Amino acid sequence: EGDVFTYDPGFTSTASCESTITFIDGEKGELLHRGYPIDQLAEKSHYLEVCYLLLYGELPSVEMLEDFEARVNRHTMLHEQMMNFFRGFRRDAHPMAIMTGVVGAMSAFYHDSTDISDPWQREVASIRMIAKLPTIAAMAFKYSVGQPFVYPRNDLDYASNFLRMCFAVPAEDYVVDPILSRAMDRIFTLHADHEQNASTSTVRLAGSSGANPFACIAAGIACLWGPAHGGANQACLEMLREIGTVDRIPEYIARAKDKSDPFRLMGFGHRVYKNFDPRAKVMKQSADEVLDLLGFENNPTLQVAKELEAQALQDPYFTDKKLFPNVDFYSGIILEAMGFPTSMFTPIFALSRTVGWISQWKEMIDDPVQRIGRPRQLYTGAPRRDYVDIENR
Ligand code: SDX
Repeated sequence: EGDVFTYDPGFTSTASCESTITFIDGEKGELLHRGYPIDQLAEKSHYLEVCYLLLYGELPSVEMLEDFEARVNRHTMLHEQMMNFFRGFRRDAHPMAIMTGVVGAMSAFYHDSTDISDPWQREVASIRMIAKLPTIAAMAFKYSVGQPFVYPRNDLDYASNFLRMCFAVPAEDYVVDPILSRAMDRIFTLHADHEQNASTSTVRLAGSSGANPFACIAAGIACLWGPAHGGANQACLEMLREIGTVDRIPEYIARAKDKSDPFRLMGFGHRVYKNFDPRAKVMKQSADEVLDLLGFENNPTLQVAKELEAQALQDPYFTDKKLFPNVDFYSGIILEAMGFPTSMFTPIFALSRTVGWISQWKEMIDDPVQRIGRPRQLYTGAPRRDYVDIENR
């Protein structure tokens, strides 16, 4: 009430931590970053400004933002020696496998930002993560398609730089399409942070032991890869492709409702949102805009997605369980239209979420009284009993 924003979700006792970064009201379908609604940030801000907000708590002035962007630009390149890491992978390695390995290996290269007791090193590690993840993700993509790596350029904005590193080839000039760049930047912003989701909680738990930030982010990437979490955007597009046409939708809805069938509608449902995921609303608008502008307005996958959403939201199974589209339902359609293979969908989620992971890691490490995480369990195993020698078993 008034100027004191209090919110008791009723589960204080089970909350894993306190945080000032992101607030979610699952019932209302509200997502705030440092108090600012996600739909306003997606429309009016841009990703590096949202990075500044998540890291430091306030929107920057013009000068503060220019300084931040210059600091990020100084760290976009990867140590040349690290190129060897990529060559150790099979060409068909999933880019998430490469990113998990390469980000963890940064611990062995950037010794001047692994001592977490030094505030300056914590700051440099944060900037390095935000700066280098697009370069690493783009390199993982280039490696998978057998094309030469493309170095970052500091005269391009963050999203344009990533698109160029992914799609430029030495044989011809690459001109960034401002429509794609704006759509890419918005996707980065929509995935930036999301309270204590599984991968962020993984980063916090790893960081609570004093592990270096690169190792913690690598743990977060590994967790995000799962199809129940960040891997859902890839799984969702593959599901929409498998459905193929709107006349097959009832068959898949029936499968999703059948308890004996492990199939679930990918991109649907959420542990916290029991209303629309506000990011899904923005993503759906973006999908319409981008596909129209790219000439894919009749994209069959988008038609299937919209009809699937419509039919599911008329079905009591989904509405009674409060299952709505989440952030992953439309994102893959946009990324596919932009030219990305499905294997790059989760890496793009990971590079977007890096700022959320590192901001939450920094918030925890900056707290002088933080302690190692140690979740407890409810033991349901065997009662105490004595050892039995093998000849007596
Ligand atoms: C992300 O936590 C975050 O913030 C995550 C995230 C972020 O930004 O970090 O938002 C990103 O991970 C989004 C979620 C992406 N995953 C998917 O889209 C995969 C499909 N969704 C489901 O697997 C599921 O909805 C979860 C994992 C997202 C949520 O799981 P919950 O809250 O544990 O839900 P549940 O498994 O307890 O299901 C509740 C009921 C069950 O039926 P009953 O046992 O009660 O009869 O709903 C059913 C489930 O079977 N159900 C679904 C369903 N999701 C839940 N049925 C069909 N299709 C689905 N997608």
